[in-house]
This record gives sequence, structure tokens and C-alpha cells, in this order.
Amino acid sequence: MKLYKNYIDGKWLESESKEVIQVDDPATAKIIGEIACAKKIEVDLAVAAAKASFNSRILVDMPILQRAKLMHRIADETRKVAEEGGKILCYENGKALGSAIKEFNDVADMFDYYAGLTDKLEGKTIPVSSSVFDYTVLEPFGVSAHIVPWNFPLSMVGRSLACSFATGNSTIVKTAELTPLSATFFAKAIDNAEVPNGLINIICGYGNEAGAYLVAHPDVNHVVFTGSVDTGKKILHSCADKAIPAIVELGGKSAGIVYPDADLDQVIESARHGIFGVAGQICTAMSRLVVHKSVKDELVDKLVNLSKSLKVGPGYEEGSGLTPVISEKQLEKVEGYARSGIQQGAEAVHGGKRVERDGYFMEATVLNNVKPDMTVAREEIFGPVLSILEYDDQDEAIHIANDTDFGLGAGVFTKDLKKASWTASKLEAGQVYVNKWFTGSHATPFGGYKQSGYSREKGIDALKAYVQIKNVGISLD
Ligand code: NAI
Ligand code: MG
Repeated sequence: MKLYKNYIDGKWLESESKEVIQVDDPATAKIIGEIACAKKIEVDLAVAAAKASFNSRILVDMPILQRAKLMHRIADETRKVAEEGGKILCYENGKALGSAIKEFNDVADMFDYYAGLTDKLEGKTIPVSSSVFDYTVLEPFGVSAHIVPWNFPLSMVGRSLACSFATGNSTIVKTAELTPLSATFFAKAIDNAEVPNGLINIICGYGNEAGAYLVAHPDVNHVVFTGSVDTGKKILHSCADKAIPAIVELGGKSAGIVYPDADLDQVIESARHGIFGVAGQICTAMSRLVVHKSVKDELVDKLVNLSKSLKVGPGYEEGSGLTPVISEKQLEKVEGYARSGIQQGAEAVHGGKRVERDGYFMEATVLNNVKPDMTVAREEIFGPVLSILEYDDQDEAIHIANDTDFGLGAGVFTKDLKKASWTASKLEAGQVYVNKWFTGSHATPFGGYKQSGYSREKGIDALKAYVQIKNVGISLD
């Protein structure tokens, strides 16, 4: 069995404890590889390396176009490992092979994009008086720690790391213990790009151990986290103890409103990717549809047909439309939610339970007649479970869509763009999709309202959260 390692200070390190984390293929539950498990010692080494590289000012003082060129080089090297790394990502996460390879290419795009922004981080001059010359400079925080989840094991690394690097921070990425292997291929790309030692460190250890220790480390100055609300709150508490900033993206319970004039086939295509893609394990999953009663029966029929047509299988098998969830624990959780929905009065018009086969497969589940107070309408399920809620007038639709503690995504399906824009203005969510779920790119700001978190990833706006403003006043007297 191949032992994958942590990438610290430009070196590949095993765990001094010799402990390893075994990684399985969720389509078969068979072990596919193991990785050295970072403990406190390795976290200390990674933080020390990041701190030393930051203090050396190698990135901060690098001529800005050279920093950009280095980022383009990381992008090129990442594209070179996309096939091989994507395959491992497909095996460790379960998602479709094409999507897995795309994650590597998305990371490369992120690096190219932020490379182009390195020389556009401009400060200001501020009029104070004729005897003071006052200006601002945008400076990095120093050592930035990024905790990433298992649903997008690589693209979540790329989006925060590219921004962090572009702004001159030194970074430690802690990958998720369920999907740590693909990021080692990316670390290889970093190494091939000859990134100076310590600027980027990629480690894997358990969240409550290496993750919590990293976030609380006195030499970490900035934290980026994507994952569950509960863990996010723990991380925010830990950051509050040190009074350091954190960027948190904490999932959602996103609703799409279907107006009577909607093109229902567009809703179906959105369901295919939005709730059944990656087996629904997407923070902005289209987990609720709020449907006008005049079109509900027709839409439900189409959703049942879609669910039936999805071939259940591993991501590495051509044509698999419904891939596994990440683990037995996640499968139990998702199945439990579906069961609770049925017990509380929803009707499973398709699915509702696990698929009887090896691995962790959940049926494509469509729950009809869901009411806003049911658990399935309120909590993040993170599985292929779609709740259908009915409405009569549009204010009620907006009320139902916003009746959640989350505020990550929302959607509107209508041919009337005036109505779409009116609806978008009422929805409490960081991103609103009109007629197609997931319209964003590396250039569009992404993040949550309400308990879905704050600050933004991706796009130009994200840069603001990775820099601090220094104001300099020069007396001309
Ligand atoms: P989690 O939020 O606990 O894990 C995400 C990352 O945080 C992992 O890298 C983990 O090692 C790390 N982590 C865990 N505890 C930590 C701590 N105390 N300090 C620092 N880092 C820590 O999520 P988990 O347990 O894997 O999944 C549970 C649920 O969370 C899912 O069912 C889903 O509802 C939600 N989730 C949401 C995601 C999103 O994209 N919004 C991603 C992953 C999970
Ligand atoms: Mg696994």
C-alpha cells in the first residue's frame, strides 16, 4: 500500500508518531491508500516553516510580476497532474471522474486568475492636510491556516490558497481526513513549480486534533474554513480567543422557487447537478424546491423520471449519474433524514433509503409534500435528498425560501426576468441562480448570508479578506 506524506517546508514527511490515516473508496468501502497522520509535532513544523518563510519576506518582497509568474507556473504544473490526481480524487471522494479532473483544472484557473490580480492590489492616498502625505498599503496577515472539507477536496484548496498566495501570506492547508490523497498530487505540482520552501505547506490530520491545534496555534494569524456550522463555530471561538480574523463558509439549505411560467426542463437539469451531482454533498445544493401548486404535479413526475434514469455507480464508471456519499457515517445520517421526513408526513415519490450494494450509495430521493417545519426542510442533509414544498402566492414562496437559518444559495425559475430580479432582491442568500443552478466561476464572489458564514471566496472581492490595511501618514512640515 502506498504511503502518502505531508508536504512541509518543501519536504515530504511521515508522521513522527508513525500513525497513518487509511482512505477508502466510498463506492466499494475498500482501502485505496494511506497517508501520514499529522500530529502536533507536524503542525508545529508546518507553522514554523510558514512563519520563517513569511519572516524571510521572500514572497512579500518578490517583484510583483515574478510572484504572478510563479503563480502561473503553479497553474501549469497543476494542469500537468490533473489526470493522475483527478483519478485519485475520484477514488477517494466518489464523484464522477470528469468532475474530479475538473477540480484540478479549476485550481489551475484560480492561480492564473489571482496571478493577474497580484499587481492590482492598490492602496489609496487620502487627503489629510497640505502638510501630511497619507497613504494606505494592503499587507498580508502572515501565517494563514486553511481547513478544507472532503466534498471538493481540491477546488476548496485552490480557491483560498491562490488568494492567500497572491496577497503574500504563507499558508498551511489541512486537508480533510476522508479525502487527503488528491492534494498530495497538487503538493507535487507546487514542488515542481519550485515554490520557495515554507510558503505552501499541505498536511493531513484529524480535525479535532491537528485541525483544532493548528487553528489555535499562537503563530497562526488568519484562518479560512469551509465545513459544518458546528465545527465553524468552534473555529470562530478559537480565533476569537486570539482575536484573529476567520473566513468561514458553513453550508446551506438552499431553495429554488419555481414560478408557474418556469421551463420545467431547466428545473430538471438543475436538479440533476444541483442535488444529485456529487450525491448532493454540495454546500449550495438545491435541497429544497418551492413549487407553485399549478405546476407541482407535472414537476414531481419529471423529477421521478429523472431519479429513475440516474445510473447508480462509482464515479470512475462511465455514465454513473448517482455516485456514493462519502462514508458509512454520512450514509446513515442521510438515510436517517429521509426516514425522518417520511415519519413527519412527507411522501417519498422516489428513493428514501440506501442502495443495497457495497459502498455508501443512497437512492436519489424526492420527498413530496414537505412542510416548512419538518426537519428535512430545515437542516443540511448533505445527500441526494430533494424536498418539495408547495406555495400559492409569490410572497409565500419567498417567505418559505428565506425561512431558514442558512443563506448560501437560492434560485428562481421563471421566463420573466423582471420577476427573477425582483425575487433575487428578496432572497436572503449570498448567491442567486436564475434558471440554472451553479452559474458561478472563479471570478464570482462566493459566500453566505446568515449562518452560512461570512466573507467571500473567489473573485476580486475575496482579496479583501486576505489583507490588512496599513495607513501611513508622513508629516511634510
Ligand atoms: P466538519 O466541518 O467537521 O469537517 C470539515 C473540516 O474541518 C475537515 O477538514 C475536518 O478535519 C476539520 N475539522 C473538524 N473539526 C475541527 C476542529 N475542531 N478544528 C479544526 N478543524 C476541524 O464536517 P464533517 O464532520 O466532515 O461533516 C459533517 C457535516 O458537515 C456534513 O454532513 C455536512 O452537513 C457538513 N459539511 C458541510 C460542508 C460544506 O461545504 N458546507 C463540507 C463538509 C461538511
Ligand atoms: Mg473515503
